[in-house]
Amino acid sequence: MFKGALFDLDGVIADTAVFHFAAWRNLVKKYFDADLPDELEEKTKGVSREDSLRVILDHLHISVPSEEFSRLAQEKNEAYIEALDVLTPDYILPGIADFIQTLQEKGIKLALASASKNGPIILEKLGLADAFDAIADPAKVAAGKPAPDIFKAAAQGLGLAPEECIGVEDAVAGVTAINASGAYSVAVGGEELDHAKLRFESTADLDFDKITEAFNS
Ligand code: BG6
Ligand code: MG
Repeated sequence: MFKGALFDLDGVIADTAVFHFAAWRNLVKKYFDADLPDELEEKTKGVSREDSLRVILDHLHISVPSEEFSRLAQEKNEAYIEALDVLTPDYILPGIADFIQTLQEKGIKLALASASKNGPIILEKLGLADAFDAIADPAKVAAGKPAPDIFKAAAQGLGLAPEECIGVEDAVAGVTAINASGAYSVAVGGEELDHAKLRFESTADLDFDKITEAFNS
């Protein structure tokens, strides 16, 4: 039986992925008068703010000096934080509040394993800060997703080995990171996440008994 659950945040716990990409779209429109295609969103999911910006600039075939790069990343974050003003517990994705409650009732420890440096503020706004026993700090890990570091750090924060934990993700890079960490990957989303050990179509479908059965078999 698993003893810990390591959660991604954006797109798993909260409906915030849309705010990230909207902020990037506005920034790119303002500075480069360009539009980003919907398909690019998946490549910016799960990866750090800086890696997201690299993906976007590569797509546009634009290179900028490092000072401008930092300024763009900072401006995106300011716009993103402003957009988060509207965030309330209503933005918790379907099924997640119940899933968290079930995990707690079963005595399973919860950790956040998000690439986002805004994780603590978001959990606070969602009213979920107290539900988490540990929050891994993405600023303190050597490599971002798809590297396993943040999931390893999250397990460590719970005093557990990754092998004793499940990881829950909605991004391709995130599932790869869980698998590399040794934790058991549970994905929420489409077929692009079929490298997960177990996949549900959406957060509303997350099923504790199915996860337990799959983990134990
Ligand atoms: C991840 C998102 O959770 O956090 C990415 O999926 C984002 O899209 C990353 O780039 C970093 O977030 P932040 O809040 O630190 O800019
Ligand atoms: Mg995510």
